[in-house]
Amino acid sequence: MKKIGVFTSGGDSPGMNACIRAVVRSAVYNNIEVYGIKRGYNGMIKGEIIKLESSSVSNIIQKGGTILKSARSKEFLTKEGRQAAYDQLKKNGIEGLVAIGGDGTFTGANIFHEEFGIPILGAPGTIDNDLYGTDYTIGYDTAVNTALDAIDKIRDTADSHERVFFVEVMGRDSGYIAIPCAIGGGAEIVMIPETKTSISNVIDALKQGWARSKTSFIVIVAEGDEEGSAVEIAAKVQNEIPQMDARVTILGHVQRGGAPTAADRLLASRLGIACVEGLMQGRTCEMAGIVNSELVYTPFSETITKQKYISPRFTEMVKILSS
Ligand code: F6P
Repeated sequence: MKKIGVFTSGGDSPGMNACIRAVVRSAVYNNIEVYGIKRGYNGMIKGEIIKLESSSVSNIIQKGGTILKSARSKEFLTKEGRQAAYDQLKKNGIEGLVAIGGDGTFTGANIFHEEFGIPILGAPGTIDNDLYGTDYTIGYDTAVNTALDAIDKIRDTADSHERVFFVEVMGRDSGYIAIPCAIGGGAEIVMIPETKTSISNVIDALKQGWARSKTSFIVIVAEGDEEGSAVEIAAKVQNEIPQMDARVTILGHVQRGGAPTAADRLLASRLGIACVEGLMQGRTCEMAGIVNSELVYTPFSETITKQKYISPRFTEMVKILSS
């Protein structure tokens, strides 16, 4: 393999730059030419392809976001879009790809490989940590620490005003961000999509807390909880407890930015190298990940279909720790 392409796709995450850097440096180290494809699959379709040298990735390991930009491509969902993308790769002589992204990115990569046979490996870049085949995804540790920093600040004002705060964290389908935020932030209640938490449970927990003379509460709500958004949940609870002084904070995209933590830089560097070396070994359609400290490659077909387990013990821990 003499020429490879690298791109970032889907929601950006802190550490994507560190991963791009690792792909480029490792390719250069192995005498492989490397091209950056801008704006994910959209840029691939349009031929936004630039040559990257070792110096192109200087001074980016500590930067959030992605120097290659990112996008969620509607066009790539069509056969015509994928054909156009393949034509651009052929035109540029690109023989293999490294995709940095989440499940949407790998779903696209899997179909693309089936149709055109181009070797593709993936590095898990998403703050959600919802990918099967790796204990942690690139950006997750940073996002959790960013959210925790905000929750600590919310705790101060919640305590001063004796209020109940409903704090919404990201995670459309997963409570992976919510759980460490709840445990690390000393929250009283956590609501995640994987575990059923009814509004009546929340009301009971709040009432029991007041009975034990607690005066402020933090409820962490994962974006995708089945009871609705933090705004909706707060309204439902307020309806049942009119005397409660409730506020809602949606942390939103602040969780996606910022300098990556040491853990994310290390993970991104390790997986970026693993993708290049994997392509050199002839691997394809797999995601590089770390499971129990070991590097593993998991087929895209599994990373996109299998659900990553989240132990109900974690929600129980929140209950125990707030008792
Ligand atoms: O997948 C990462 C993520 O940040 C999710 O947690 C969130 O639901 C989604 O992306 C938000 O997407 P967008 O930036 O397109 O609004």
